[in-house]
Amino acid sequence: MQSHYSFSGFMGKRVHMGVTGSIAAYKALDLVRSFQESECMVSTVLTEACTKFIQPLSFEALGASPVYTKMFEANSGSDTTFDHLEPGQLADVMVIAPASANTMAKLAFGLADDMLSCQALAFSGPKLIAPAMNPRMWAAPATQRNWDMLGELGYIRIQPDSGHVACGDTGTGRLAPVDAIFIETLKALSPQDLAGKKVLVSLGPTREPWDAVRFWSNPSSGLMGGCMAVAAYLRGADVTVVTGPTELEFPVGIARVSVTTAQQMYEACMDLWPEMDMGCLTAAVADYRPVPYGTDKFKKTSTAGAGLSIEFETNKDILKSLGTCKKSSQKLIGFAAETRHLREQAERKLESKNLDVIAANDISKDGSGFGVPTNQVFVLDAKGRKELWSQLPKTEVAWRLWDHLLLD
Ligand code: C5P
Repeated sequence: MQSHYSFSGFMGKRVHMGVTGSIAAYKALDLVRSFQESECMVSTVLTEACTKFIQPLSFEALGASPVYTKMFEANSGSDTTFDHLEPGQLADVMVIAPASANTMAKLAFGLADDMLSCQALAFSGPKLIAPAMNPRMWAAPATQRNWDMLGELGYIRIQPDSGHVACGDTGTGRLAPVDAIFIETLKALSPQDLAGKKVLVSLGPTREPWDAVRFWSNPSSGLMGGCMAVAAYLRGADVTVVTGPTELEFPVGIARVSVTTAQQMYEACMDLWPEMDMGCLTAAVADYRPVPYGTDKFKKTSTAGAGLSIEFETNKDILKSLGTCKKSSQKLIGFAAETRHLREQAERKLESKNLDVIAANDISKDGSGFGVPTNQVFVLDAKGRKELWSQLPKTEVAWRLWDHLLLD
């Protein structure tokens, strides 16, 4: 799982997974692990066809319980005669992945002739469905009609991917990435307290070119911003990320603007800001850019062994520019990476950049710098609240910062 997806505050939530007969059934095991890492309890129901690809024992061994397979005999981990109704009473969300064309058809029409379809019919909470099948079966008019019907019935639908499929064909029908199914499930389990809010997140480093091959930058991985963006998405916000060069991927529901230089990031953020409700600028923007040498590659022979001096120009402060034109309805969070005088710097920046909240961290401390999965922040807000948080996973810092911004 990608680090900016590893939210773990879902203790007490129960995910019920339905797995059907598909070559992709083994990927459901990765999903079980991901849900467990988020502290969810997991139960599963396997169709008979699924058990031809993968055994109930695999799910049991991972700790899924109950693992339902049969309609009229005892199921592993369950002692009720109403097994077909049990998930509808106990689980918070049902995820059918991979879903075969056959199971999709049953669910679309309300058939209830096996344990999975019975349980789905008796489940009134949020249901997600992620199909996997041969591209011709997926494209078949009957399957497409069933897919539309499932949308009308309120299923949260996760589109299959395109590419090569097991039978050798190419087209649409591959199971969506496990991470995508996972994150949409967490969304269904999350409070939607940012629903209707448009959120801008800047993240990652910027690169300031000097010659044809060299640039000025910093080691930001974009992880803190990635966590802020995904946390807001899980809580229902309409999120746009403006990202410098990073390895991070985002859910398809998050709009992405990729930039390289600080000037490009400035233009993208300034364009987007007027229509946003909230901004969270985490990017490690280069404060200076070298005056370009030119489009050629600089040759070291040109200094004849002497040193090299490069002149720098000042980049715009994006956060400050957004703060300057902030409307009273807009909220702005900034970050401050410092090596000394953390509190004083945070207080100064909160005011000078017209922020609602600032999170300052000491990058010289272990577990608080670039690229690490944790952060320890000093949080200060415009209402005078000051809190030093303990070292936490960046996912948790992100979740709490949105909580903090939503406080009165
Ligand atoms: O002043 P300082 O660079 O320490 O402020 C850090 C905060 O300002 C971060 O939130 C960072 O994303 C933002 N920033 C910016 N544009 C710059 C420099 C910093 O948006 N040119």
